[in-house]
Amino acid sequence: MAYKKILINNRTLTERDEKAIRFFRQSLPPNDIEIETGEHGVEIFVRQLDVRYAQSLAVKAQQKYHTAIVADIVQAVEAIKSYGLNGKKRNFVDYNKERKVKNRYKKQQKRGQYFYARNHPFQKENNAMPPEFLDKIFCADSEIFLTQLPDNSVDLIFTSPPYNFGLEYNQNDDDHRWEAYFQKLFSIFDECVRVLKYGGRIIVNVQPLFSDYIPTHHLISNYFMEKKLIWKGEILWEKNNYNCKYTAWGSWKSPSSPYLKYTWEFLEMFSKGSLKKEGKKENADITADEFKEWVVAKWSVAPEREMKKYGHPAMFPQKLVERALKLFSFRGDVVLDPFNGVGTTTLVAKNLERHFIGIDISAEYCQAAEERLRRLV
Ligand SMILES: C[S@@+](CC[C@H](N)C(=O)[O-])C[C@H]1O[C@@H](n2cnc3c(N)ncnc32)[C@H](O)[C@@H]1O
Repeated sequence: MAYKKILINNRTLTERDEKAIRFFRQSLPPNDIEIETGEHGVEIFVRQLDVRYAQSLAVKAQQKYHTAIVADIVQAVEAIKSYGLNGKKRNFVDYNKERKVKNRYKKQQKRGQYFYARNHPFQKENNAMPPEFLDKIFCADSEIFLTQLPDNSVDLIFTSPPYNFGLEYNQNDDDHRWEAYFQKLFSIFDECVRVLKYGGRIIVNVQPLFSDYIPTHHLISNYFMEKKLIWKGEILWEKNNYNCKYTAWGSWKSPSSPYLKYTWEFLEMFSKGSLKKEGKKENADITADEFKEWVVAKWSVAPEREMKKYGHPAMFPQKLVERALKLFSFRGDVVLDPFNGVGTTTLVAKNLERHFIGIDISAEYCQAAEERLRRLV
């Protein structure tokens, strides 16, 4: 039978929520709607629904169980604007032919959902970040500096490591041999994994490298999976042809060895311990429209056009950070960028009322980052 699937994320379900959902489900005809709950949130599989009747059930559920979970479910179904009418019922069958899989959650467990992250060593207890580190920029080598931060104290790391192909950074030599480069990078990431909270996330922006045939995003992903983080997903950042101006074709008009060109970069995302992140609902600041648009994992965002103004050759744009922070963190969370450059992550975190910690090895970039925090641009 065909169903439309909707996902309501980021909920910690209480026993009352579960009871209210059961009451709602049992008050409706058997094949109209299925609701599954688990670590992935609330998943709704809807074929058809009498929305007015469902609303009256939501009111009853609220009175009986003191939770708005059913109202939220009904609202999510109501938000689907494409449906047919079948008497009083809205019919979603032709909208999306996705099939309901019975006992989906149990089956996922049995198949070995994120098997590579099983038996992880992470403690569940999180720690507060000492105030002396909060809302500051630090000029330091992250490998050394991060050792001062407590375990399990950062909610979200958003970063873009140095590219290592000779861009003109002003302080450190960005042309290391690859093996040494990854050794250094992974020892900084070791610290990142340690300081992340249980349920915290790290998002790494990486370019597919067309020189040297090094699939950096795969190597970085393998590293995090070996550390037993859960791969939460990958966002394709479409920069719209920005990098395609070069005219090196490889073997022009011959299959012998053409070069591939990339108009995009990746955001690789990993969770520590759990895919679900703790946070209060009132501290979520993403709108319904933003949520609907941004969960589609291809983001068309123009690259930063004013790198010269800030004096940095490899910045990412504020819009990219805004999306990531609103979709994956709550207001008041601690956001860290261990390669903070001229402070795009820290600026956006401040503007979005997150706490921030920015580290960069270049004193000049750190000054620029502080200046941006003062001027808020
Ligand atoms: C790709 S850039 C990040 C730019 C940043 N996203 C922005 O928008 O300004 C990488 C940064 O890593 C810094 N870096 C390189 N090695 C470092 C280290 N060991 N510790 C801290 N920062 C480092 C470089 O100075 C550079 O600014």
